Amino acid sequence: MNFNDAKIRCEDLLKIIEQHNKNYYVDANPVISDFEYDLLVMELDAIEKKFPQLQTLDSPTQRIGSDINNEFVQIRHKYPMLSLGNTYSENDLKDFDQRVRKIIGDNFEYVCELKFDGVSISLIYKNGILQQAVTRGDGEKGDDVTTNIRTIRNIPLKIHNNFPEEFEIRGEIFMPHSSFERLNKERTDTGETLFANPRNATAGTIKLQNSSQVAKRELDCFLYYLLGETLPHTTHYDNLQEAVKWGFPISENIKKCQSINEVFEYINYWDTERKKLPYDTDGVVIKVNNLEQQEELGVTAKSPRWAIAYKFKAEQAVTELLSVDFQVGRTGAITPVANLNPVQLAGTTVKRASLHNQEQINILDIRIGDMVIVEKGGEIIPKIVGVDKSHRNSDSKPFEYITHCPECGTKLEREESEAKHFCSNENGCHPQIVGKIEHFISRKAMAIDGLGIETIELLYKNNLINNIADLYDLKKEQLLPLERIAEKSAENIIKSIDDSRNIEFSRVLFAIGIRFVGETTAKKIVEVLNSVDKIMAANEDELLQIDEIGERIAQSIINYFSNQKNQEIIQRLRRAGLQFEAKETNEKISDKLKGMSFVVSGTFTSPREELKKIIEQHGGKNVSAISASTTYLLSGEKSGQMKIDKANKLNVKIIDENQFNEIINK
Ligand code: IVH
Repeated sequence: MNFNDAKIRCEDLLKIIEQHNKNYYVDANPVISDFEYDLLVMELDAIEKKFPQLQTLDSPTQRIGSDINNEFVQIRHKYPMLSLGNTYSENDLKDFDQRVRKIIGDNFEYVCELKFDGVSISLIYKNGILQQAVTRGDGEKGDDVTTNIRTIRNIPLKIHNNFPEEFEIRGEIFMPHSSFERLNKERTDTGETLFANPRNATAGTIKLQNSSQVAKRELDCFLYYLLGETLPHTTHYDNLQEAVKWGFPISENIKKCQSINEVFEYINYWDTERKKLPYDTDGVVIKVNNLEQQEELGVTAKSPRWAIAYKFKAEQAVTELLSVDFQVGRTGAITPVANLNPVQLAGTTVKRASLHNQEQINILDIRIGDMVIVEKGGEIIPKIVGVDKSHRNSDSKPFEYITHCPECGTKLEREESEAKHFCSNENGCHPQIVGKIEHFISRKAMAIDGLGIETIELLYKNNLINNIADLYDLKKEQLLPLERIAEKSAENIIKSIDDSRNIEFSRVLFAIGIRFVGETTAKKIVEVLNSVDKIMAANEDELLQIDEIGERIAQSIINYFSNQKNQEIIQRLRRAGLQFEAKETNEKISDKLKGMSFVVSGTFTSPREELKKIIEQHGGKNVSAISASTTYLLSGEKSGQMKIDKANKLNVKIIDENQFNEIINK
């Protein structure tokens, strides 16, 4: 490669890596695997080594990415948060072992640990109390996410038994498979974009602005690194065992190894065994155990010389991309799906793979007829992570993304903040129509058991239903001529539709399928606006005053009700006798807080939900965001600094729990 070629490739790589950094660290939505990413950085590194004049100070080979989010207060790390060098082969590991031996000799032991696939965190404890939880950020400073981290059950807020006065403990926050599946199921119900894997879901959750939402996501944590001036032991292993006594969650799958061969045994064992764990791991971390020897080995700009990560290779296969289908979801989101020449991968035959969105197709330059690399990593659905361009036909053409809905022909739209294209023809596009009806009848919505997905398709095909309101016009006689519907099942269908007229208003609101309005959001709305008329009449500001409702949800509600077809459907459902008003449930105690609005932030002696209930029982209103019209910020321990700053700026009075009780008891 001559200098000019190197320069061009270098510039290309910088752009590509920068985009992937943004996908990974800022959007929490990587489109290539870690392995692919490392290959790009390694290629750049090799060019920079050959032509040092091409290396820039901010080259990705010289720094680690940043997850900094401007909405959090930033904290400088007392000890930089380094990352680890990655290896993918036994030979690389043998080289690491040789480098270590060269510096500290042969008298040492390793500790092997699993590499948890989540988001790293540093916890600072003083006098046994959790003071701060900070993300890695750029390694020098990270985001203060303490309020969110406090919601993770197994992170002790207070520890026990002879702990050092001041220390930091670092580890990984992750989302167990069960929580991840539940979260994505809920997001399917509300029409939100699904998280591609538990790691992305964790990254997205840690950066949420509302810690009660974080609590619901059931994150978990393992800690793996203790730092401080007065640690109890001289080895990493013993310090972690001590931390177990203080109450920290430390993985049991940690092992001392006396030789690199024992390390290989650990790796080989866990390469298969890890698949049985209820959370994702993506490798093994190998650390020199003795702290003095760690110090002797020292660190490079990015990572310690005393530790390395061995990454498990995601199972891959190469096969031909035959064609691309475009699926239209209930909310109109378009998902490209690859049809592949069937290939064996991790014990199953793979025929289809997710392509996520247009951007991913473009970045990888995937073309029909290409030999593509399919990978089954942490995700349940296999994905295409690259193209073997050496097999590409000379006449192949760049992939042209569709511009119109494959189902109804409507021109597709793409909002700036969304990775996916959308078909806006919500009431005229087959999968959207059927998808909406399926959502409407589902168990958590109207629970119309007599109907199933196949029957919905059948009724739609026979022109008997075209929207959710049509269900209530169905007659038994119309069902009987249809294949597979006998007298008894026709009666069941009509009866369960009839019964659904009694379903409470908050479930009806969830069932009608307003984008982003899930079960809980619907309940929150109904607590404040107890009839559909009030919701339809509410403007954006009024909606934003409701607990847990942000701009995106508010706008979606307004869009839904301003659509004339939706208005007609609501009118018909109303005439059919569905509940569009909530029955009064919250017992009124007084009107002391009438006309007052509260933002409740932090932790209190009583649970936060309890305080919110008291506010409502006394005629007050709970709102999630502070505005000039908010009456009080009810601020507890560890209340969000941003909320306090905003309250001060807008002259909103800040009160604590005692002052609140005084107002109530006056
Ligand atoms: S030790 C200086 N141990 O992997 C060494 N890291 O690519 C500090 N990770 O940033 C890290 N499991 O987020 C260590 N058992 C483990 C780990 C682990 C996961 C993550 C961590 C780190 C990244 C490095």
